[in-house]
Amino acid sequence: MAKIKTVFYCKECGNESPKWIGHCPGCGAWNSYVEESVAVGKDNKSAKNSFLPEMKSKPVPVLEISAAKEARIDMGCEELNRVLGGGLVPGSLILLGGEPGIGKSTLLLQVALSLKDKKILYVSGEESAQQIKMRAERIGVRNESCLILTETNTTDITKHIEETKPDIVVIDSIQTLESSAVDSTAGSISQIRETAAEMNKVAKSLHIPTFLIGHITKDGSIAGPKILEHIVDTVIQFEGDRHYGFRVLRTIKNRFGSSSELGIFEMNANGLREVSNPSEILLSQRDENVSGISIAATLEGLRPMMIETQALVSTAAYGTPQRSCTGFDTRRLNMLLAVLEKRAGFRLSTKDVFLNIAGGLRVDDPAIDLAVVAAILSSNEDVEISNRYAFAAEVGLSGEIRSVNRIEARIAEADKLGMEKIFVSKYNCRGLDTSKYSVEVVPLATIGELVKSL
Ligand code: TYD
Ligand code: MG
Repeated sequence: MAKIKTVFYCKECGNESPKWIGHCPGCGAWNSYVEESVAVGKDNKSAKNSFLPEMKSKPVPVLEISAAKEARIDMGCEELNRVLGGGLVPGSLILLGGEPGIGKSTLLLQVALSLKDKKILYVSGEESAQQIKMRAERIGVRNESCLILTETNTTDITKHIEETKPDIVVIDSIQTLESSAVDSTAGSISQIRETAAEMNKVAKSLHIPTFLIGHITKDGSIAGPKILEHIVDTVIQFEGDRHYGFRVLRTIKNRFGSSSELGIFEMNANGLREVSNPSEILLSQRDENVSGISIAATLEGLRPMMIETQALVSTAAYGTPQRSCTGFDTRRLNMLLAVLEKRAGFRLSTKDVFLNIAGGLRVDDPAIDLAVVAAILSSNEDVEISNRYAFAAEVGLSGEIRSVNRIEARIAEADKLGMEKIFVSKYNCRGLDTSKYSVEVVPLATIGELVKSL
């Protein structure tokens, strides 16, 4: 009989303690311990005699390991391939995180259905086979080689994987899996930790790439212990505003590629559509120019994108002026407003300022600063900026226009979209050959110069 004992786990790092403690000695988090009961089975490994272990593993000289480069699996979806670092690595474990209803199940089912020459096992613990069938009909792709399994017990799932020998496994979701080795409810920290480790073992030993779908808590982290992110090879996150059709797939961690890649999808009535040219949809189609709008040449990962920034500056109706942002950091906006006030003499401290990044995207690239400043000035002075001007530079605290990385990619994108001018930092222009572009590159050194040239 397995003995039941109570253990406390840290929600952040998975550290274990026999009693509740307020401050985790492992990761330093406060008030992160939760109670869980665990069954201690007889076949506990640590209880074995360590003097006479039955050894199967053996050290190998690094030179003898064959480095045959494994071909990555093409997922039949450019955006997903890019986010995975150029295709799926055989035997890897990928965690796909996202808020409920954002489209995680839809994305993976759609990919599974589109891969006709691969056998895919889609394990669902959340929906019944009929519900998945309904979704598949909505997506409207027929595929014989996509198998659906509704099961939550990891031992059974492992058996099915061994029997069917699929090319790819999808687990929807890790929070519904249960392992018989741990005696706590599905979704608890010890269950997530155990089931993820078991799935990792299966993926690595049978060499089958596995996707785990994971839910996200309110504060945006993947529900469950942080060590879940350490166990898996790749963490990708599906995000977006539910009211907009756009969804962004972002790499958070990738052992086999860059971790700053981005894929863009659009949710339609019949599944997700890849957006291979984001600039064209992120720029709203407008004929006449309106004040308060400017276009930023940003870069997400290796991919240049033109994004529209919209600002509204109006006199504050009530005492304290409001500052509000969608898709941009409010603290950064406050800093830019302070720079405009102090270095360029604009009186913005009594104004309400609202800022919006079009398309429901969130931008972290500092190169968007200049476009934000331009949009604010344009709205404040009620002077429109041509929709054929683009901006790409960071703004410093002393009002200087600073250089940004990979300026050539940004200029080339502006050129491709038929922009007239692109405003960049003077320091980015050193050694830059602008003659090959038809877009005019305008170098700036300070905010004052921006005001003048607009
Ligand atoms: P879902 O994939 O179930 O999300 P998750 O697995 O992340 O919880 O999300 C489905 C949402 O997308 C739901 O609100 C319905 C919508 N949807 C479409 O708009 N078109 C479609 O073709 C499908 C399948 C879903
Ligand atoms: Mg789902």
